[in-house]
Amino acid sequence: MNKININVIDQSGKKHNLNVDIHPEMNLMEVLRSYDFMEGACGGMCLCATCHCYILADDKSILIKNDEEDAMLDQLFSVQSNSRLACQIPLSKELDNLIIKIASAD
Ligand code: FES
Repeated sequence: MNKININVIDQSGKKHNLNVDIHPEMNLMEVLRSYDFMEGACGGMCLCATCHCYILADDKSILIKNDEEDAMLDQLFSVQSNSRLACQIPLSKELDNLIIKIASAD
């Protein structure tokens, strides 16, 4: 599989379906930024949280974060148990049919 489907709910609640190529060197923020869903201001350095999104999935393994991401998310008023920073999610076939909701800016 070289392509995956990603379902995106934007900040206005509108749903979008993206069919994207898997590039293992890319992360989810880079894909979402290319469609203007988010800013990704720090370029994926885990420093800005402008790539904050909510993961709507039964498989909770995608919610596992490292300490650096956890610390950044903890600073946000809008953090939820299913929050992730998209820049910390590598593109992979495991993301196929994922549903994500773009978080509002804090
Ligand atoms: S792009 Fe800055 S934290 Fe993800």
